[in-house]
Amino acid sequence: MFSSLSRFAPVAARGARGFASSSARHHKVAVLGAGGGIGQPLSLLLKLDPLVTQLSLYDIRGAPGVGADISHIDTASNVKGYPADQLEVALDGAEVVIIPAGVPRKPGMTRDDLFNTNASIVRDLSKACAKVCPDAHMLIISNPVNSTVPIVASTYGSKFNPNRLFGVTTLDVVRSSRFLGEITGEKPEDIRVTVIGGHSGVTIVPLLSQTPQAQKLQFGGAEWSNLVHRIQFGGDEVVKAKDGAGSATLSMAYAGAKFSNQLLRALNGEKGIIAPSFVRSPLFESEGVEFFSSNIELGTGGVEKIHQVGALAPEEQKLVDACIPELIKNIKKGQEFVASS
Ligand code: NAD
Ligand code: LMR
Repeated sequence: MFSSLSRFAPVAARGARGFASSSARHHKVAVLGAGGGIGQPLSLLLKLDPLVTQLSLYDIRGAPGVGADISHIDTASNVKGYPADQLEVALDGAEVVIIPAGVPRKPGMTRDDLFNTNASIVRDLSKACAKVCPDAHMLIISNPVNSTVPIVASTYGSKFNPNRLFGVTTLDVVRSSRFLGEITGEKPEDIRVTVIGGHSGVTIVPLLSQTPQAQKLQFGGAEWSNLVHRIQFGGDEVVKAKDGAGSATLSMAYAGAKFSNQLLRALNGEKGIIAPSFVRSPLFESEGVEFFSSNIELGTGGVEKIHQVGALAPEEQKLVDACIPELIKNIKKGQEFVASS
C-alpha cells in the first residue's frame, strides 16, 4: 500500500509513509462530508500524509466516529470528528478545506441531475468557510464540479480569491494514465496526461497528442476514440458496476489525497508542482468560459500560474469545441443559483 502511495510525490523527498514531507510547516485540513463513501477513505489517506498535521472531520452524520477511529492510527497528526452542529468549530483555523459532501449518482443519472441536492449543500458549507476560514484553500469534489466551483466563488462574493479555489479533476488524470497504460503496456505511474475542460462527459478533454506514450495511437482512429470516450465516461463505468450503491469513492479518495498532497507541498515552498484543476481561468474567457481546467502551477499562494493548453491535434480541437458550450451552461447554472438564493 505505502509503495503505491509514494506515487503522490514522485520527485520529492519522502516521509515515512511515502508522501513527500519537504518541511515541518503545520497544516490543518478539514474534510466536509467526512463520513461518506469518499470522505472516509480520503480522511484515512490524509492521516497518512505527514504534511497534514491536524485533521478536522465534519459531516451531518457519523464524523465523530470516523474521527475516533482514524485518530488511533500511529502517525503524528491530530484528528477530531465534529457532529452536525459544530461546522464552524470544525473549520476554525483550517488552511485547506476539502468538500466531498453531497449525493452521488445512481445508474441513468448525469452529474447535472445532482445539482438540485448538492448546490445548496455546497453553498451552505462554503458560506460557513467564507465566514470562519476565508483564506483557506478550497478543494471541491462534490458534483457537478462544473457548477459547484462557480457556486463557491459566487457565495464568497467580494471575499473570493481565485488563487484558492480548486475543482478537483484529478480522477480524470488518474484514469487517463491507467487506461492508456492498459493499452500500451507501460506503467501508469510513468504516464502523465493533461486533461483540460471540466469534469463531466464531453467537458473532459484529454490531450493525448501531448502525451509521449499515446503517440502510437492513430488520432481520430477507433483506438483513440474509444480511449477518449472511456476517459470522458469513466465515472459511468463505476456507477454502473456499483449498481445503485453510488459512484467512485476509493479511486476518488486516492485522487483527492494526491491533489491535496501536491497543494500542501507547494504551500511549503516546493517548486515545479503542476497539476490540472478546474479554476477561475482566463484561457477561454473571451469565449465566455470563466472556469476551466488546465495545467496549474501550484505555489505558496495556491494557483501560481495557469498554463496555456498548448498545441492541439485537430481531433482535440473538436473535443474542445464540444466542451465549451456545455461548460458555459454548467457554470452559468451555478452562478444563477447563488444569485437567486
Ligand atoms: P456519500 O453519499 O457516500 O457521502 C456523502 C456524505 O456527505 C455523506 O456522509 C453525507 O452525510 C454528507 N453530507 C451531506 N450533506 C452534508 C452537509 N450539509 N454537510 C456535511 N456533510 C454532508 O457520497 P460520495 O460517494 O462520498 O460522493 C460525494 C460527492 O462526490 C458526490 O456529489 C459525487 O458525485 C462526488 N464525486 C466527485 C468526484 C470528482 O471527481 N470530483 C468523484 C467521485 C464522486
Ligand atoms: C467520477 O468521475 O467518478 C465522479 O464524478 C462520480 C460520477 O458521478 O461519475
